[in-house]
Amino acid sequence: MTFNGDSVAFIGAGVMGEAMIKGLLHQKILEPTSITAADPRAEHLEALRRRYGIHTTTDNVAAVTTVDALVLSVKPQVMGQVLSELSGQVASIGLIVSIVAGVELNTIAESLNNGRVVRSMPNTPGQIGQGITVWTAAPEVAAAQRQQAQTLLGALGEQIYANDESFLDMATALGGSGPAYVFMFMEALIDAGVHMGFSRRDAEKLVNQTLLGSILYAQQSGLHPVQLRNQVTSPGGTTAAALHEMEKGGLRTVLSEGVWAAYRRSQALGAKSD
Ligand SMILES: NC(=O)c1ccc[n+]([C@@H]2O[C@H](COP(=O)([O-])OP(=O)(O)OC[C@H]3O[C@@H](n4cnc5c(N)ncnc54)[C@H](OP(=O)(O)O)[C@@H]3O)[C@@H](O)[C@H]2O)c1
Repeated sequence: MTFNGDSVAFIGAGVMGEAMIKGLLHQKILEPTSITAADPRAEHLEALRRRYGIHTTTDNVAAVTTVDALVLSVKPQVMGQVLSELSGQVASIGLIVSIVAGVELNTIAESLNNGRVVRSMPNTPGQIGQGITVWTAAPEVAAAQRQQAQTLLGALGEQIYANDESFLDMATALGGSGPAYVFMFMEALIDAGVHMGFSRRDAEKLVNQTLLGSILYAQQSGLHPVQLRNQVTSPGGTTAAALHEMEKGGLRTVLSEGVWAAYRRSQALGAKSD
């Protein structure tokens, strides 16, 4: 048992905090009574309490007094205020997991006077347990607590451990922002279908299932994307004509430049919050 009766407090129980709580309960990793959610709105907390049977409070300090692990799941804009409020209150807690974008391990550790910090970057499909999170841990985090962090983040889907914190900005650019690239790609294909004459409903169904099926097929076949693409590309055929136009338009370079722009932006925002 990763938690062995240990309790966890969530500071901020919005979209991502609630997704983690839901996943942990659904996978029976924690009992409802081992979870405390702290959030400013009493009516939101009441809804969480009724839905999940967890403890709730509007008082962040009260939430952390008796817990073994802490998840910081507030928006970056309020992280400074939360860290000052919790300063001196969590020095003995065994694990602090932050999912807050752009706030570095050192900033959290120094503000809370506790070096046992994990920093992570999840993404929105985590809301249905299909996300992927890249995370890293400060050297002070013990092996058992690393295991706990892995389990907590696993409630959102897959996870990858990175040895170096610099991978968190790269993860933001590829995985954190990634769903937006996919949604824009979906939109563009649906609009092309409508442009040719499909109803929007049929275009959406055709595009959604083509994307879903292609990803599942790639995963299950284990083939490289080039092999899979070649299977669909007959000499002088329709796919070859389409791919030629996409290459001419610089599709790959545009995607790569987009990811690099997100990476640079993530680094710049992180530097500003130091
Ligand atoms: N959403 C994603 O896919 C995603 C992906 C990667 C990383 N993240 C990171 O996850 C974090 C949470 O994002 P989210 O989408 O879950 O945001 P969210 O839905 O706004 O959740 C944040 C929660 O924190 C509450 N809150 C505000 N001030 C607080 C305070 N002082 N103390 C305790 N709770 C407070 C908010 O309440 P009110 O609504 O009443 O203000 C809200 O319920 C962010 O830092 C973000 O960078 C999110």
